[in-house]
Amino acid sequence: MSTTLTDLSRIETAFAESAAFTEATLDALLPKPSGPESRLLEAMRYATLSGGKRLRAFLVLQTGSLFGVDRRPLGRVAAAVECLHAYSLVHDDLPAMDNDDLRRGKPSLHKAFDEATAILAGDALLTLAFGLIASPDAHGDPYVRCELLSRLCVASGHAGMAGGQMMDLAFEGKSPGLPEITRLQRMKTAALITFCCEAGAIMGKSSPRMLQALSNYGQDVGLAFQIADDLLDAEGTVAETGKSVGKDAARGKCTVISALGVERARAQAEAMVSQAIAHLDLFDEKADLLRAAARFVIERRA
Ligand code: IPE
Ligand code: IPE
Ligand code: MG
Ligand code: MG
Ligand code: MG
Repeated sequence: MSTTLTDLSRIETAFAESAAFTEATLDALLPKPSGPESRLLEAMRYATLSGGKRLRAFLVLQTGSLFGVDRRPLGRVAAAVECLHAYSLVHDDLPAMDNDDLRRGKPSLHKAFDEATAILAGDALLTLAFGLIASPDAHGDPYVRCELLSRLCVASGHAGMAGGQMMDLAFEGKSPGLPEITRLQRMKTAALITFCCEAGAIMGKSSPRMLQALSNYGQDVGLAFQIADDLLDAEGTVAETGKSVGKDAARGKCTVISALGVERARAQAEAMVSQAIAHLDLFDEKADLLRAAARFVIERRA
């Protein structure tokens, strides 16, 4: 099913609104540069502010709104996830990893600053993310904060993003099968996106059934999201994506495209999106923006 114009303008407005809210929240929560360590603080702000689709923040805000969670604590958790995501991009671009000079239409952090600052800014953004969620401002109930933190640990650590990034590097130039590539993409990308979809439900003390439905939605959206990213690398332009393109093939990255080719990869992403939307069947029209977001993930050009 393709997105209608009304859906598209609704989702675009909702995205723009939640991106502006997230940007303002990040600006308030990130430390202001001062003192002899100010270069680190400037780098953290460079990596995090002014750019990015803020999809992960959007998912936290939208899933939380399904359960009537207040926007202020949701904004804090959304900002934390965007800090953690920004760290992952900074490290992903380093010469030792993907060696990319362009990010969000600007020089990558290690180009704008230097490698040591990029490593430290990544470390500090990752740590800040956990600190923001550990604060009582994120949720009044310490059990909820611990639940969020332990899920974020799994999503971002060796069993999630960091482990997936290791596989992404280890597989370069090799030919793993589709199940291994899917596991890689689930860990490096879908795990954090799944966390975003669970966070609002956990904060809103959702029923286990609704939490599971949102978790399943997040998994499928996350897998579709990485296939779409890989398709944009293969077929998009620098002007559209704000990133260098054509690098995955040049580096021998193992993606759904390298395993199945462009057409079957696109079909696979579309199947994941339909499956994601089906997981939302137990929610009423309040979940329509999440349904539209799933389609946006594969129709985007950036
Ligand atoms: C890029 O993520 C990295 C991947 C996991 C594919 P995004 O495409 O969400 O990057 P920004 O935040 O919009 O720049
Ligand atoms: C990165 O995947 C996933 C992360 C966990 C950061 P990519 O390496 O494909 O992301 P881009 O294309 O550089 O944004
Ligand atoms: Mg990478
Ligand atoms: Mg990369
Ligand atoms: Mg990519």
